[in-house]
Amino acid sequence: MVCGMRILTGLQPSGKLHVGNYFGAMKPAVELQGQGECFYFIADYHAMTSGRDGAALRNNVRELAIDFLACGLDPEKSVFFRQSAVPEVNELAWILSTVCPLPLLNKCHSYKDKVAQGVSANHALFAYPVLMAADILLYDSNKVPVGKDQKQHLEVTRSLATKLNETYGEGTAVMPDAIIKAETELVIGTDGRKMSKSYNNTLPIFGEEKKVKKLVMKITTDSTPVEDPKPTEDSTVIALYKLFANEPELAKMIADHESGGFGYGDFKKRLAEAYWDYFAPMRVRREEILADPGYVDEVLAKGAERAREESAKVLDRIKRAVGLV
Ligand code: ADP
Ligand code: TRP
Repeated sequence: MVCGMRILTGLQPSGKLHVGNYFGAMKPAVELQGQGECFYFIADYHAMTSGRDGAALRNNVRELAIDFLACGLDPEKSVFFRQSAVPEVNELAWILSTVCPLPLLNKCHSYKDKVAQGVSANHALFAYPVLMAADILLYDSNKVPVGKDQKQHLEVTRSLATKLNETYGEGTAVMPDAIIKAETELVIGTDGRKMSKSYNNTLPIFGEEKKVKKLVMKITTDSTPVEDPKPTEDSTVIALYKLFANEPELAKMIADHESGGFGYGDFKKRLAEAYWDYFAPMRVRREEILADPGYVDEVLAKGAERAREESAKVLDRIKRAVGLV
C-alpha cells in the first residue's frame, strides 16, 4: 500500500448498479488504487435515510460489495468496509454536530431535493452531511473523489473541519479536498437524459444478455431512413458506444453514420456487443466471487478491522482535543 495521501469515498447501497455508476464512481475509484492509501466503504447508515426495508438493505450491501470487487476493487490495495462496521463514526458525527451551525445544513440542496421528491423529512436526512463529514474526517482523508452532486457536502465537511480546528486547536481535523469528476464523465441513459435509476433509463452492469439487448434496442433515435446519413452529434448510441468500443470500432461507427446505408438496428447491435464484451472479465470475476460465499464477508471483516485501527487513532486525538478523554 502506498503511504502518504489518503483517498476515501463512500457509495450508497441502493440497488443494481448501472453503467453510469460504473463510469462515474467505480471505475475512477478502482483507477485511484495505488495512487494513495484508499479507504472505500459502503454507506449503509446513509442508505437508511431513504429506505426502511432491512432485508433490502442487507441484500443491497452484499450486492454492492460483490459488484465493487468484481469491478476491480482490490482488497490488497484498498481498505474496503461497510460504514456501520465502524460505529464510532456516529461518535464523531455527534462531536461535529456540536460545532455545526444550523444555517450550514439549511443551505444544503440535496436535503431539499429529497424532501421535494417525497422522502420523509427526518432528522437523519437533515443531518446527512454531518455524518458524511464524520466519514471523511474520521480517517484523516486528504482526497475525496465524488460526483458533482456531492460538492456541497464536501464544502460542509471543510467548514466543519475549520470549525473544529478554530474551536479546539489546529491539527484537530485534517482538511480534505474533493476530487470532482469532470462533466464529460456524465453517462447518458437510454432515453438521452442522464442515466439514473430515478429515470428508469439505465443499463445494468451485470444484466442478463437478452434483457440488456432489449434495453439497448429501445434507445431513442430519430427516424432517418436506412440509406441516409445519420447525425453523430447528440447520438445516444454513439455516446454509449464510446465508453465500450476501441478507437477503430468507434471510428467505423461514426463513418457508417456519416455515409448512410446502415440502420439504427445495426448500430444498436454493435453497441450491445461492445457492452457485453467490455464487462466480460468482470462478469467472470463476479461468478468466481459468487462461488466462494465466505469471500465477501472475509474481505469486509478484514477491511473493518483495518478501518477501526485508523479511526481509533483519529477519534482518540479528537476526543482528547474536545475534552472527552
Ligand atoms: P442514481 O442517479 O442512479 O440514483 P446515484 O445517485 O446512486 O445514482 O449515484 C451513485 C454514484 O454514481 C455517484 O457517485 C454518481 O456521481 C455516479 N453516477 C450516477 N449516475 C451517473 C451518470 N449518469 N454518469 C456519471 N456518474 C453517475
Ligand atoms: N453521500 C454520498 C453519495 O450519495 C455517499 C457518501 C457517504 C460519501 N459518505 C461519504 C462519499 C463520504 C464520499 C465520502 O454518493
